[in-house]
Amino acid sequence: MKILMVASEATPFAKTGGLADVLGSLPAALVRLGDDVGVVIPKYRVAETSAAERVWLAMPLWVGPHAYRVDIYRLIHRGVQYFFVDCPLLYDRPEIYGSDPDDHIRFALLSQAALGIARHIFRPAVLHLHDWQAGLVAPYLRTTFASDPTFFGLRTLLTIHNLGYQGNYPATAFADLGLDPGLYNPGGLEFWNYVSFLKAGIVWSDAINTVSPTYAREIQTPEYGFGMDDLLRVHARKLSGILNGVDYEEWNPETGPFQEAHYSASDLSGKLASKKALLAEMGLPPDTRRPLIGIVSRFADQKGFELLDGIATWLAGQDVAMVALGSGQKKYEDMFSELAALYPDKFAVRIGYDDAISHRIEAGADMFLMPSQYEPCGLSQIYSLRYGTVPIVRATGGLDDTVDESTGFKFVEYTPKALQAAIAQALDAFEKPVSWIARMREGMAKDFSWDMSAKEYQRLFRSL
Ligand code: ADP
Ligand code: GLC
Repeated sequence: MKILMVASEATPFAKTGGLADVLGSLPAALVRLGDDVGVVIPKYRVAETSAAERVWLAMPLWVGPHAYRVDIYRLIHRGVQYFFVDCPLLYDRPEIYGSDPDDHIRFALLSQAALGIARHIFRPAVLHLHDWQAGLVAPYLRTTFASDPTFFGLRTLLTIHNLGYQGNYPATAFADLGLDPGLYNPGGLEFWNYVSFLKAGIVWSDAINTVSPTYAREIQTPEYGFGMDDLLRVHARKLSGILNGVDYEEWNPETGPFQEAHYSASDLSGKLASKKALLAEMGLPPDTRRPLIGIVSRFADQKGFELLDGIATWLAGQDVAMVALGSGQKKYEDMFSELAALYPDKFAVRIGYDDAISHRIEAGADMFLMPSQYEPCGLSQIYSLRYGTVPIVRATGGLDDTVDESTGFKFVEYTPKALQAAIAQALDAFEKPVSWIARMREGMAKDFSWDMSAKEYQRLFRSL
């Protein structure tokens, strides 16, 4: 079957989070199962695309009143055709996502380009849309191009990777999009006086899924629904949850990139070497006996680090060390930096985005902390399992679906107290090396490779 995916990020070309990991690995897994897969992403300045060849010159596209001519580049990576939309005016910028006043146009054009590619270059049976950045494909297909025979029979799936990001723009943005004014109503893509790209995708796609079964249930409740829970309940019949898989070629303690030392479940000696190296790299005392907690994350409210603020003094009093890598909201960057300044022999932080350090933290830490307020799937805790780095997580979304009592530590209440109890439990358990190592091995043996989940996507595509 031919599937064309549309997204704003894909590893190894452009990444800010787990969305990119999925677009870098799910397509290849589908190809291994016999499907023919293309992926459309913007040709950003930061995207490493020098090996791509131009396959289409000056494709004319419209976003409402705005006319563009874009070149399409293609690169075959792991058997997948990655199509890059070259529109320097919109994508040749320092950041993937700024808060540019024309952001809605940038991603409306991505949707139009995906339909252009589906028309001229790669004609799919299913268009697989990822997150709000691809949301407008659905209404363009079902309204603007409704009577275009090119697209007869074409079906759409929208995957929601994170309901917290909805692509909502002031009503004035609507005129830029070239959609029928009648669509701007609460049954369409109007959302509390905003134009919502995600809502557009939800309303007009043939099916919707999220990236874990638990999150698919949670988003239908006011607590996790970001104002869209009633809309999702209305569309519940076409909503399901498919757990993400992970790419064990990239995230593998035996062979993975960037590591100081390699190791496996049967020979863990390289993990100790990795810990030593990580402590040195981060400027922490070379005390390998003391448990080391790792964090690699976007610093956003979603990730629950406000809970850590409430227990920092307690944590500093424990026999433990912590390394954090991340960037995002300034208040969390400041919180981690202040902790590192106050307790330099306990806390270390690197503010920024760094692929190499992220791998070395997975390899070198004993525990991995994700106290998320909500977590659609979460990939880092799954990588941690494979690295024998015991996850401490809040029981929500995909964290709840991938970590259990035998492989990690979970807490339910979103409070500092509950987080403290889970960390205390982990620190206690670390004191008993035999059962600790058994727990590490239990996690390392878990298999979250894409094969199973890719088959679930295949079933969904075929049911469409
Ligand atoms: P999310 O997509 O919500 O950020 P996930 O756990 O699904 O959360 O995926 C996060 C991905 O981004 C992982 O591959 C993780 O290693 C990576 N990542 C997050 N922050 C950083 C960072 N500062 N430097 C390097 N990689 C990071
Ligand atoms: C989002 C979610 C994360 C998920 C990732 C990939 O960024 O926050 O939980 O793992 O998408 O689906």
